[in-house]
Amino acid sequence: MMSVDAISQLIRSRRSIYTEMYAQQAIPKEIIETILENAIWAPTHKKTEPWRFLVYHSEEARKSLSDLLLKNYLAASVGEDYSPVKENKVKSRPLQAGVAIVLILQRHKDSGLPEWEEVAALACGVQNMYLTATAAGLGCYWSTPNLITDERDFFDLEDHETCLGVFYAGYLKADLEFGSNRKPLSEKALWF
Ligand SMILES: Cc1cc2nc3c(=O)[nH]c(=O)nc-3n(C[C@H](O)[C@H](O)[C@H](O)COP(=O)(O)O)c2cc1C
Repeated sequence: MMSVDAISQLIRSRRSIYTEMYAQQAIPKEIIETILENAIWAPTHKKTEPWRFLVYHSEEARKSLSDLLLKNYLAASVGEDYSPVKENKVKSRPLQAGVAIVLILQRHKDSGLPEWEEVAALACGVQNMYLTATAAGLGCYWSTPNLITDERDFFDLEDHETCLGVFYAGYLKADLEFGSNRKPLSEKALWF
């Protein structure tokens, strides 16, 4: 079993790292499978396992996602809302990443669970993905723009399914350090 120190270090060194920082280096399929296997070990109320993962790994697949984001961006950003810098950012992300994993919440009609419990379960799965990617030396982050969460046709979603964004991952360009901070626990925890 892993030590508390080791898991604390992994949890606290995990960062959201954006695709601009990724190297153009392929991620082996086995690593992506481990990321997803660990995702599905997240806790779920009534063991509903309310998720599906659409894995855009090949360059062709990531290009198709890039084309979709570009199309949705151009449709949503007319006139003053349009920015060529933003257009470039939006369409570059799936191409800069080594993999883009689209997260689908798959609700169970008969579970009797409120939606938030299913969303919470999926988010637990995403944290497992973050931690596994971090341990594998990958940068990664969860991206949730409307351009992707409002999309249904491209992902062929059924009525009980919702897109909850995309998890990008990629090897980093160089040995970069990413700092962060949190408010003190004493401001957040009340002891009795
Ligand atoms: C539900 C959720 C949605 C997120 N969506 C986005 C997003 O759309 N764009 C983005 O840049 N970061 C997104 N993030 C990442 C957060 O910005 C990031 O976790 C936060 O800045 C803290 O940084 P850290 O992850 O390095 O600790 C999301 C995180 C969560 C938990």
